[in-house]
Amino acid sequence: MTASGENVASLLLAWYDAHARDLPWRARPRDPAPDPYRVWLSEVMLQQTTVAAVKPYFAAFTSRWPTVEALAVAPEEEVMAAWAGLGYYSRARNLVKCARAVAERGGFPETEAELRKLPGLGDYTAAAIAAIAFGRRAVVVDANVERVVARLFAIAEPLPGGRRAVRAAADAITPEESAGDFAQAMMDLGATICTARDPRCLLCPLSARCEARRSGEPARFPVKTPKKAKPQRAGTVWWIVREGRVWLVRRPGRGMLGGMRALPDDGWSAGSDGSGEPPLAGEWREVGAVRHGFTHFDLDLRVMALGGAGEPPGEGEWWPVGELESAGLPTLFAKAARRAMAD
Ligand code: ADE
Repeated sequence: MTASGENVASLLLAWYDAHARDLPWRARPRDPAPDPYRVWLSEVMLQQTTVAAVKPYFAAFTSRWPTVEALAVAPEEEVMAAWAGLGYYSRARNLVKCARAVAERGGFPETEAELRKLPGLGDYTAAAIAAIAFGRRAVVVDANVERVVARLFAIAEPLPGGRRAVRAAADAITPEESAGDFAQAMMDLGATICTARDPRCLLCPLSARCEARRSGEPARFPVKTPKKAKPQRAGTVWWIVREGRVWLVRRPGRGMLGGMRALPDDGWSAGSDGSGEPPLAGEWREVGAVRHGFTHFDLDLRVMALGGAGEPPGEGEWWPVGELESAGLPTLFAKAARRAMAD
């Protein structure tokens, strides 16, 4: 190992002083720690998607619920609807649970171990909040950090098995002080310079310490075990309209996209195709299809439309087609609705 811990940390922190991204949930480098609520919320959101995609959601959440106490008393359906589009809806439900637990105990705990006990908080989020919001030394490893570390030490063991080695190496370079700045500097380096496909080593403050660079093929790291192809599932959604309104249902609390408002469908799930059976008889028209990638499978969803329909069976609501944006449909159903409306 040539990447000595102290050296790496000081080089990186000096780079961060000059190049930190200005992000709404962040304090400037070396400033006092930011509001733990904003750190927690941003970290949960950032586990889902990119910084660019998170920004508008973060702005909307913090203006509507400016404190953890405000979020703690929000109705769960409203939070779920505001979350729509970010994916992994169980996280939205956990967000409310966690806000309630924090409000009840009178604020966020400051240590990684105590944070880990909050509902829905995993190892990564607990470490990130302890470091970023409370300045505690914690080893914070997300996908960007993993890539930077795997390259710095040219870790040859393929991921996911190699994660243990990545973590040990990240631990070895994490400083005692400025752990929050260090974690975010690693993330920024991964996001802007040590990028997955085309690392910009000439701009990197750590290039002289980087084993992967020395190997001549930095993008070969992190080495990955080849992925198995995802299973392909098929299903159908039903676009049922009457007098400018569309029939929406609420999905069962448990299971995929649980508790979310949705278009009715034919019962496809993570484990099986849908039945293709429409919920009521009529002159159905196929108006197109949408594809959606879930973590464990890809879904091909046929969109079938029926106009001037009677009352579908079961519970649901007639929602004005012109106001669908406010229904908080998960991305998959929003895509299907756009497909139907474009017909
Ligand atoms: N990704 C996850 N957390 C982040 C943070 N605090 N700053 C930048 N990117 C991140």
